[in-house]
Amino acid sequence: MKKNIAVIRGDGIGPEIVNEAIKVLDVIAEKYGHTFVYTDADMGGCAIDKYGDPLPQSELDKCLAADSVLLGAVGGPKWDSVPGNMRPEKGLLRIRAGMGVYSNNRPAKIWPQLASASPLKPEIVEKGIDFIIVRELIGGIYFGDHKTYEQGEKISEDVMKYSESEIERIGRIGFETAKKRRGKLCSVEKSNVLDTSRLWKSVMHRLAEEYPEVELSDMLVDNCAMQIVKNPAQFDVIVTENMFGDILSDEASMITGSIGMIPSSSLGATSNGLYEPIHGSAPDIAGMDVANPIGTVLSAAMMLRYSFDMPAEADDIEDCVGRVLSKGYRTGDIMSGGEGLKRVGCSKMGDLISAEIKAKK
Ligand code: IPM
Ligand code: MG
Repeated sequence: MKKNIAVIRGDGIGPEIVNEAIKVLDVIAEKYGHTFVYTDADMGGCAIDKYGDPLPQSELDKCLAADSVLLGAVGGPKWDSVPGNMRPEKGLLRIRAGMGVYSNNRPAKIWPQLASASPLKPEIVEKGIDFIIVRELIGGIYFGDHKTYEQGEKISEDVMKYSESEIERIGRIGFETAKKRRGKLCSVEKSNVLDTSRLWKSVMHRLAEEYPEVELSDMLVDNCAMQIVKNPAQFDVIVTENMFGDILSDEASMITGSIGMIPSSSLGATSNGLYEPIHGSAPDIAGMDVANPIGTVLSAAMMLRYSFDMPAEADDIEDCVGRVLSKGYRTGDIMSGGEGLKRVGCSKMGDLISAEIKAKK
């Protein structure tokens, strides 16, 4: 199969980790007889430097024309003082909205090889951590009006708004995801305070009638933050709005060992998806060849699975990541715990995964 992939390397460690994912994709292409054609698109700080805009239309068009988009990370202190609507992160929000990818899927699964890297007590980890956060991605407070004005002092406002149809379409993804897994969906909101959350809850319960095979529960977001560290085994699928999902998914990643391991897929009404690791651009370690490329490599695997319908190829990548970890290779972020571990850099980790895929029959 031939597929066109738009590649956004971005800022900080973005270019390094994307290189490793492309290394792995190229090995997959050779092994399975596919052709992947890559088109670079600029977004984030590098696009601000080049065009004065974190996502010029020309770059978004490249992404819309592709079969899928692979993204590293954007942002960094260099652009901290640019106005809010021109920040690198705005590029990220705009590409998500521009592609219409309203559903962000972030798995929190513990790799047995990394169990000792989890900050949780062993008896909690032993019960298993394997859940998915389905995060609404193009609505809510991140996309409401933002303004700052003077009224004797500075006042800022960010508007949080959700329509029933926006909630319903992400709710369906939550129910469908749970149906394919262990059949448990936890809807997370703050309905004791927020109107948007009360609407959220009512839509989820209306949908539940269409999915009798899924067991729906409700949880307040503050309680959820606590339950994720207290008893993560209780969760199968969590569905939640944009900001809550942003925060909870970082927390969920940490209990699995490292945020550097977690991939994500963002999909909308078409198969053109956006695939990115959930971590940021880590400017403090950029260019040092120490970043963990596995979150990006696994994002590429998700692209093969969800956008290109190549499940065997995706399984191959995931399996080979596991094999490399089983052999004791670790980037710095996942070094903790365990004996006889071998510390490797970003590029070496990509080489090891690629070699494993090549060698495996
Ligand atoms: C993420 C990031 C982004 C988000 C930022 C950089 C805009 O934190 O993907 O989780 O909030 O969505
Ligand atoms: Mg985040």
